[in-house]
Amino acid sequence: MILNDNSKARIRERVGLYPRHKSAILPALTIAYHQVGHLNDEVYKEIAKIIKVPYVEVAEAATFYTMFPKEPVGKYLIQVCHNISCALLGADSLVEYLEQKLDIKKGETTKDNLFTLVTVECLGSCATAPMMQINQDYYENLTREKVDRILEELRVKG
Ligand code: FES
Repeated sequence: MILNDNSKARIRERVGLYPRHKSAILPALTIAYHQVGHLNDEVYKEIAKIIKVPYVEVAEAATFYTMFPKEPVGKYLIQVCHNISCALLGADSLVEYLEQKLDIKKGETTKDNLFTLVTVECLGSCATAPMMQINQDYYENLTREKVDRILEELRVKG
């Protein structure tokens, strides 16, 4: 069992909010992700059992959304949008800069387990491109100087 009692209770609570059980899949995945830090088959099975939907429906939803990592990630998951608006305003160069600063390649985690760097599709903040999401927070209108400040703040925070 991966999900703790608190997560299970919160998932059960969500089921009651919708006319159809399957509508609780995304809230359930979000709850599980916040507790576990990533999602996997074991989590999908537990969620399917709790909300009484087929396992495949949970797995399909989870694998569709890139915001749910499927493997363990660092404390700070850096998701850089590389879609059209962000790409036009330097997303590739931003990713290269982050790779250089963190001494990792896209898809990797730093040795201290603090940062994981990935690219993702549009995060719906195109007007403030280039942008990235770190855990639940958006960082927008990014420049190299801003990235330096953000990484430094997170390193201090630990
Ligand atoms: S293209 Fe980057 S947020 Fe939409």
